[in-house]
Amino acid sequence: MKNEVYKNNLENEYSESSSLEHRRLLGQFFTPYQVAKFMAEWILLHPKKQMTILDPATGFGIFERALTELKRKKKLSFDLWEIDNNIANKLKLVARELNLDSCLVQEDFLKNGWNKKFDGIIANPPYFKHHFINQKERVYQEVCLRAYFKFSLQTNVYCWFLIKSINLLADGGRLAFIVPSEFLNANYGEKIKDYLKQIGIVLHLINIDFNENVFDNALTTSVIILAEKGNKKHNHINFYSVHNLAELKSLKTFLEKHPKKTYKITELDSKTKWRNYFNGNGEKKLPPSVVPVSVFGRFSRGIATGANDYFALSKLEITEYKLPTKHLVPCITKATHAKDISFDAEEFEKLRENNKKVYLFNGEGANDSYGSRYIDEGKHRGVHLRYLTRNRNPWYALEKRPVAPIWVNVFGRNGLKFIWNTSHCVNLTCFHAFSPSDIGKNYLSIFFLYLHSKIAKELFDREKREYGNGLEKFEPNDLNKTMMIDFRLLENQDKSILSELQRDFLQSRKERRPVVLEKADKIFRKYTKATF
Ligand SMILES: C[S@@+](CC[C@H](N)C(=O)[O-])C[C@H]1O[C@@H](n2cnc3c(N)ncnc32)[C@H](O)[C@@H]1O
Repeated sequence: MKNEVYKNNLENEYSESSSLEHRRLLGQFFTPYQVAKFMAEWILLHPKKQMTILDPATGFGIFERALTELKRKKKLSFDLWEIDNNIANKLKLVARELNLDSCLVQEDFLKNGWNKKFDGIIANPPYFKHHFINQKERVYQEVCLRAYFKFSLQTNVYCWFLIKSINLLADGGRLAFIVPSEFLNANYGEKIKDYLKQIGIVLHLINIDFNENVFDNALTTSVIILAEKGNKKHNHINFYSVHNLAELKSLKTFLEKHPKKTYKITELDSKTKWRNYFNGNGEKKLPPSVVPVSVFGRFSRGIATGANDYFALSKLEITEYKLPTKHLVPCITKATHAKDISFDAEEFEKLRENNKKVYLFNGEGANDSYGSRYIDEGKHRGVHLRYLTRNRNPWYALEKRPVAPIWVNVFGRNGLKFIWNTSHCVNLTCFHAFSPSDIGKNYLSIFFLYLHSKIAKELFDREKREYGNGLEKFEPNDLNKTMMIDFRLLENQDKSILSELQRDFLQSRKERRPVVLEKADKIFRKYTKATF
């Protein structure tokens, strides 16, 4: 076992032999050994020779193994928490093997243990939604009361671990946490960011966006938080980005040499996505000539049927069930059905002929025999009992959405993909749909061209949510909040050139499009004084 404790073998064996469902339920995704060592180095920079250490979510003790390997003549005593008995039993063996001076508590960390303070706190806390927190209300009251701080009840569990741990740090204590970076960019994280600013102990935030996904099955990017509770509050935070494991070889070299962006705490805005501070966008002030996208219209989520296998139909299925056209709504049901930058009646016809599912069944008002028969068929299949359908009245009615002139791909690897729609199709949730406001109606074609411009991409990038593996996602509100050029400032001559360019853009082949966009970009840049 000796050699094995300094690798990830224990974790890997466990991940292979236990169900993903169980692991998800308890947030059991493990830290790569090299990352654990990097974080352990931070804790061991504490000048004390004898240290008390807390790990509130120990797993197989990756951090304890790393601390033991690096220990540098210190005497460490550990308080370890692990809720899962199977893991805890194995952990006991690890502790014995390493001769750890440790106390293992096989209970829920959130519910107990407020009385002791620690010189070092190190953790990769569980990650799951607040709904699954045991005795949520009671734990919430206690955390808020003890931390003198109120956060959103909708906060993911890892933030609850973080807040509690911060409050268990002794004076001079050092904390190293690795958590999903979601809170830096999600709404629920605003309060947590406020809190981190206010307590003034955080020194370094290291955003990990590895090219390969090192946290198996956890589809998230992560951030390492390094903090120290000094005599005085820290007044700045360093932001770093790392893209591969090799960059985290040695903490000392990393802190000395790795490029960073440093911001005064007073400069940091909790309301914005902090991902912009890692890439330096936070420094770039936007010019006064920008307004939110919502001035020109709104993106909204597509239709959620709750049972696409039943509601989405192909030509053949329609013939089979003899469904009359009055119950059918043309619809784009898959992002892959719209391959290029425009979608028209002809494209729709091709999909229909190829027997793709391009219609939705709308059962509302279906009092004829074929419509009623298909509703009965749905009941027979149990469609009416699914989550969305049982909350709809009647269950077979569709959400009412207008046909949108612009769609955008929701989830992807290569940025946003906007589509100009002239068909009569509505859309499912594979796209968000844009409905122009009264102001926006006057600029629709220019807006579409603008969406493809470099300026728009840079501005949208500030709002995107990133997942592991380079996946990017935008919620409709991320798009609506994004700032854009105020088209009302466009001179008439520029307006007509841009409309012309939009037609050119739609009609030209792929190879020519960058040339068209380059011309449009030049005009758009005239209206932004900043160098984006
Ligand atoms: C993300 S894993 C991290 C394990 C290990 N520290 C590592 O980094 O590889 C979180 C661990 O916390 C345990 N856990 C989950 N909820 C807990 C709770 N409420 N109290 C204590 N431990 C918990 C899980 O069983 C899991 O082993």
